Amino acid sequence: MRVIRTADYEEMSREALVFVMERLPHIRVLGLATGGTPLRLYEKLIEAVHAGETTMRHVHTVNLDEYVGLADSHPQSYHAFMKKKLFDPLNLTPEQTHLPSGTAEDPEEECRSYEKLIRSLGGIDLQMLGIGENGHIAFNEPGSAFDGRTSVVKLAPSTKKANARFFKGNEFVPDRAVTMGIGTILEAEEILLLASGERKAQAVRCMLEEEPAETCPASALQKHGRVTVIADEEALSLC
Ligand code: GLP
Repeated sequence: MRVIRTADYEEMSREALVFVMERLPHIRVLGLATGGTPLRLYEKLIEAVHAGETTMRHVHTVNLDEYVGLADSHPQSYHAFMKKKLFDPLNLTPEQTHLPSGTAEDPEEECRSYEKLIRSLGGIDLQMLGIGENGHIAFNEPGSAFDGRTSVVKLAPSTKKANARFFKGNEFVPDRAVTMGIGTILEAEEILLLASGERKAQAVRCMLEEEPAETCPASALQKHGRVTVIADEEALSLC
């Protein structure tokens, strides 16, 4: 895996913007992530599009995951997060932006149709990822199979705790999510993982330095030939 080491979060976001902008003209399907880590990148991308330096008009986006039980309009849903942080500022249409539904009547069918959708778009050209403190990618918690497909999963207590900052408290964080599987993610042509801060140091070390094992989902990325990790000093402090 290629690792780009940056001084801090701001420089990580700047490097990520350069990386994404270089590829955007050739990308048809861009995989997006939620969480705090990509937020500065998204702000910079919006600035660049508004300045006429790049465009997302031709791109379809596919997000990694959504909480089960949260309607698209729920303020803490990933639908609402992406709409507010990226899609609306860029005027991206609902037809070109895709997330799995957290309120499908038949969640299993929803997972199958999300996989079908990705295939019908021609597969993911570039998938962006963050990393959880326990090494999760998307919502694939430790123990997830490396060949897993989009499915409904139970969130680890530590993930609920880490994400409680986006809710009124831990008890409001849904227990389950629909997530692309590790197998789905590994089929992307190219992968960009961003990590910032000391809280991620242990997970980043496992991902880069341990033998791939299901105890650290992100270590599956070692099995992919085109992964770039852009991480700051603090996130790389144990490597
Ligand atoms: C969530 C998301 C992941 C994300 C992770 C890290 O659990 N499902 O896709 O990578 O959190 O989030 P943050 O960037 O806020 O640390």
